[in-house]
Amino acid sequence: MTHICRICGGAVQQFLDLGRQPLSKAFLKPAEAGRETSFDLTVGICASCTMVQQLGEVSRDLVFGPRYPYRSSGSPVMRKHFERLAQRFLNHELAGAGRFVVEIGSNDGIFLKTISEGAVAHLGVDPCPRAAEIAEDKGVEVLVDFFEEDTATQIRATHGPADVIYSANTLSHLPYLPSALRGVDALLSERGVFVVEDRYLGDIVAHTRFDQIYDEHFYLFTVRSVQAAAALHGFELVDAKRLPVHGGSIRYTLARPGVRPQNINVGEFLAQERAQGLGDPATMPAFAERVQRARDELRTLLRELHDSGKLVVGYGATSKSATVTTYCGIGPDLVPYVIDGSPVKHGRLTPGSHIPIRSPKAFSDPYPDYALLFAWDHADEIMAKEREFRKGGGRWILYVPEVRIV
Ligand code: TYD
Ligand code: ZN
Repeated sequence: MTHICRICGGAVQQFLDLGRQPLSKAFLKPAEAGRETSFDLTVGICASCTMVQQLGEVSRDLVFGPRYPYRSSGSPVMRKHFERLAQRFLNHELAGAGRFVVEIGSNDGIFLKTISEGAVAHLGVDPCPRAAEIAEDKGVEVLVDFFEEDTATQIRATHGPADVIYSANTLSHLPYLPSALRGVDALLSERGVFVVEDRYLGDIVAHTRFDQIYDEHFYLFTVRSVQAAAALHGFELVDAKRLPVHGGSIRYTLARPGVRPQNINVGEFLAQERAQGLGDPATMPAFAERVQRARDELRTLLRELHDSGKLVVGYGATSKSATVTTYCGIGPDLVPYVIDGSPVKHGRLTPGSHIPIRSPKAFSDPYPDYALLFAWDHADEIMAKEREFRKGGGRWILYVPEVRIV
């Protein structure tokens, strides 16, 4: 079945079906099991603009409304990442009188806190009232709303044009991206920059990180598809830079055409993507085959370990784990509990797969034979913290880029 591209109206061909999935952050109280929202997680690629996108849509009010639990400031690595970028903006784009910056998806104010301390006019736009409250406590001004064309037009009328519009790990979450881009067009000053950070499809494909695909990640960006989407809305992609965060991201800088010189990075990325076949509909089925193989191998390994009486527990009740456990059919029979450091998740069940979540104290009580690392993007930190597990003979199971025991 052919679907219509959200970005350009072209034909989208499905290449991956991850089955029926729960909301990735719906960590359930035991009494809530069986009363969850679920949706078909299918992914396709547009033959015209090459944008990779989900084919269904979960209501944004269900995902990003008042119950949205993610708080960006929880990670020290991310705090440093955003502080450094905010400082760079303060020294360059935002130096001078009367400058104004808008952040789309400001969450708990992790980025704008530094801007506020630099006494620069700013506005975060975020639909989650609780996250906004935390940001406001840090002196950050927030408009609690989704960022769309009319929101942006309203901000322009009340605050004037923005010199910088910034968005990290949010733009790919918006099925209504064209409306947001029209909003950026309405709000950005003539010489302003629109800076976007998001996970990179190149890393997802190269390392078979299929668990990066879940409800929130509606689009999976490449330099080519971001450039195409930007061009449709009158923006030029002037820079692209690799970032090590979230298992591989890119920072895209967009501006109005001809206003800024284009960094040679852009051409280099495009050439590299072309060489890899990234964004080519013909190469996506090979990725889907690797995903199916990973599922089969992981399931077989867990069954064998279970049948030989080994205890395997999960580590990291991530959003990503919703996709892996549900797609691979991993439930409490194979993995009786998942260890996680966030107290809010303790006593809850993982979405869809209903595996109980326990505190890290339970990890050594007693140590399992194997730990399935769902939080693979924090592997170094977690393995260092849980050094004793391996010293005592325990082994980690990884499933990206392929299933293996270390
Ligand atoms: P996160 O990186 O936010 O992944 P996702 O976006 O897929 O949810 O989640 C990491 C999870 O791992 C989070 O629930 C906390 C947990 N965690 C630990 O339990 N111990 C640790 O040392 C670290 C770094 C994370
Ligand atoms: Zn398209």
